[in-house]
Amino acid sequence: HNHLDFATPEMVRDAIATGDTHTHVPAYQAYADYAAQGGYETLTSLRDGGDWDAVQSKVAASGLRGLGGAGFPSGKKWGFVRGNPGPRYLAVNGDEGEPGTFKDRYYLERVPHLFLEGMLIAAWAVEAETAFIYMRDEYPAVIEILRREIRALEEAGIVAPGYVDLRRGAGAYICGEESAMIESIEGKRGMPRHRPPYVAQVGVFDRPTLVHNVETLHWVARVCREGPDVLSGTERNGRKGLRSYSVSGRVANPGVHLLPAGSTITDIIEAAGGMAQGHVFKAYQPGGPSSGLLPASIDDVPLDFDTLQPLGSFIGSAAVVVLSDQDSARAAALNMLRFFEDESCGQCTPCRVGCEKAVKLMQADRWDQPLLEELSQAMVDASICGLGQAAPNPIRLVMKHFADEI
Ligand code: NAI
Ligand code: SF4
Repeated sequence: HNHLDFATPEMVRDAIATGDTHTHVPAYQAYADYAAQGGYETLTSLRDGGDWDAVQSKVAASGLRGLGGAGFPSGKKWGFVRGNPGPRYLAVNGDEGEPGTFKDRYYLERVPHLFLEGMLIAAWAVEAETAFIYMRDEYPAVIEILRREIRALEEAGIVAPGYVDLRRGAGAYICGEESAMIESIEGKRGMPRHRPPYVAQVGVFDRPTLVHNVETLHWVARVCREGPDVLSGTERNGRKGLRSYSVSGRVANPGVHLLPAGSTITDIIEAAGGMAQGHVFKAYQPGGPSSGLLPASIDDVPLDFDTLQPLGSFIGSAAVVVLSDQDSARAAALNMLRFFEDESCGQCTPCRVGCEKAVKLMQADRWDQPLLEELSQAMVDASICGLGQAAPNPIRLVMKHFADEI
């Protein structure tokens, strides 16, 4: 696995000898090295009389969209937040919980300062009073890196002590939903709020809040430094930009693969070294379990925002899981619904009861398709947040494309 830095037996022995038995921190680019290569010059020059309109236009010209999964135009969000009176906050969503997604971790364990500089540029753009980082606790190395590097920024005078407030999530998938994350930052149980109002108006402690995913901010830094072309300069299949696909499953080289946004599943499998030996491509999850499963026959569609909607799916955070002839689409869908059943926050009935009923119906030898369809529609229509609304996608796509298995 080229993206994971597992501890060797020697490291484990060292860790036990030094008492550090928990976190193995991989080699990464620390503050001194980043600064020596011109890091934070963009931020400093912006703080020194930069024009926020010009920065917003640059981000808009790059085509950058929210890379947590929803693809909302990033520059536009800044305008919404600035349009509301201060004090304002910035909250970074680092609760990368979508099964199969590990791109944020990949960047944070290698080049954390691109993210941190991007975050401070966004904080400058909306004049945020505090920057909260809500980080997944299952990423102990990332938390340690961020602690060290935020301290380095404080010591270098780039941020005031306490300006960046690092919070640890506690393992709930739903806390990656932005309003549940905000509830959790406020110290409450993480449950999604009704929208509107959007968090751009009523966010952390009821103040206007800019919420961005980690990778989005990584690209904010690169776009501001290298120009919009770093994204908009790449074009494939009529789509512009780049995507960090987290690829796993039956491929030879799982990992994060940075490819043009117009890449098809064929391109992605090829970038991942082809199928694993002895496996024949059968199906894929294009972007997390909420995106369901598509059959191998749909192999010529660019896996980008908006392109999969007509197929009843979406790209989301680009978590591509490849299944082979040795896997069951039906079992994969059941596994996805079990996950949603576990992770539903339980505040609305269609999702709490719907996921449970779906799991029961999907365990039957023969699926009751009309009933599953009726249940799916009720969940889509009446769930408060994306979890309950998207949970039926795997059910519907398996009924459509893998009818012989159910
Ligand atoms: P959304 O489309 O409702 O919102 C996206 C963003 O745009 C939010 O920040 C929202 O506040 C903002 N927004 C939308 N309309 C707005 C308006 N009119 N005014 C002001 N702001 C507005 O999508 P949502 O529910 O936030 O995210 C869903 C996505 O999250 C899914 O596509 C899924 O793939 C992804 N996801 C990612 C995970 C990960 O680990 N990266 C985990 C779970 C889901
Ligand atoms: Fe909670 Fe599910 Fe309702 Fe979302 S849809 S608020 S996860 S019960």
